[in-house]
Amino acid sequence: MTLLLQAETVSRHYRLPRTTLLGAPPRLTAVDRVSFTLERGRTLGIVGESGSGKSTLARMVMAFEAPDAGRILFQGQDLNRQAPAALRRLRRQFQMVFQDPYGSLDPRRTIGWSIAEPLRALGEPPGRRIDEVLQQVGLQTTDAAKYPHEFSGGQRQRIAIARAIVTRPALLVADEAVSALDVSVQAQILNLLLDLQDELGLGLLFISHDMAVVASICDDVLVMQQGRVLESGPAPRVLNAPDHPYTRSLLTAAGA
Ligand SMILES: Nc1ncnc2c1ncn2[C@@H]1O[C@H](COP(=O)(O)OP(=O)(O)OP(=O)(O)O)[C@@H](O)[C@H]1O
Ligand SMILES: [Mg+2]
Repeated sequence: MTLLLQAETVSRHYRLPRTTLLGAPPRLTAVDRVSFTLERGRTLGIVGESGSGKSTLARMVMAFEAPDAGRILFQGQDLNRQAPAALRRLRRQFQMVFQDPYGSLDPRRTIGWSIAEPLRALGEPPGRRIDEVLQQVGLQTTDAAKYPHEFSGGQRQRIAIARAIVTRPALLVADEAVSALDVSVQAQILNLLLDLQDELGLGLLFISHDMAVVASICDDVLVMQQGRVLESGPAPRVLNAPDHPYTRSLLTAAGA
């Protein structure tokens, strides 16, 4: 069986502004030889403090930017060796949910319009699909005609999830998708993600700096620090008996 997602020794460097007149601009290694695999129906958590490279990794998985070294394989296909049309076709299969549902929803458009956006990008008429996904995320079909400001933070995150699943993806990348929400609302959105995963067989790449949240949802965990993988393995093992003091410090910070 082909793996859903595979990262093979992926690295990403950024150039920093020059500090001296003639010297070479310094380079920052945001992601340093990271490898992992994710199967359908499974959740891989990526944890680490701010600046550890989690979002950079997510952007590469989404093919928003390319690695400087290593490969990202989606269903066995190297994302960075696809012709533009082939990549567009592949894109329907991996979608992302961001932290801030305000920033990702156009305030002047109805949410029905926003949810249909990925379908428009593929040139597909939405048909009944908007009603279907609204129901799947626990909203009303009549909500399609409303505007973002009419919804709470948690509801807006449901809308963002509806938009992410509208193309029937196989992989969902959630980057701090519940971090901006109150704890009780966080639990509702996490439950929704788990329900959708059961229903749709989604692979979930779940990025968070919050160990408690990761513990509640992930099968496997990868701990990052300064771009590197410090340790990884099944969530119960990594969270109950971490190898590394850094992982223990993240757990302490989460009050676990
Ligand atoms: N476009 C960029 N140009 C230069 N440096 C960048 C760029 N994007 C990220 N970085 C740097 O790469 C490192 C990793 O950043 P990244 O955003 O991936 O971390 P993160 O783990 O997602 O952090 P957070 O938890 O705060 O979201 C940081 O040092 C960051 O400043
Ligand atoms: Mg980030």
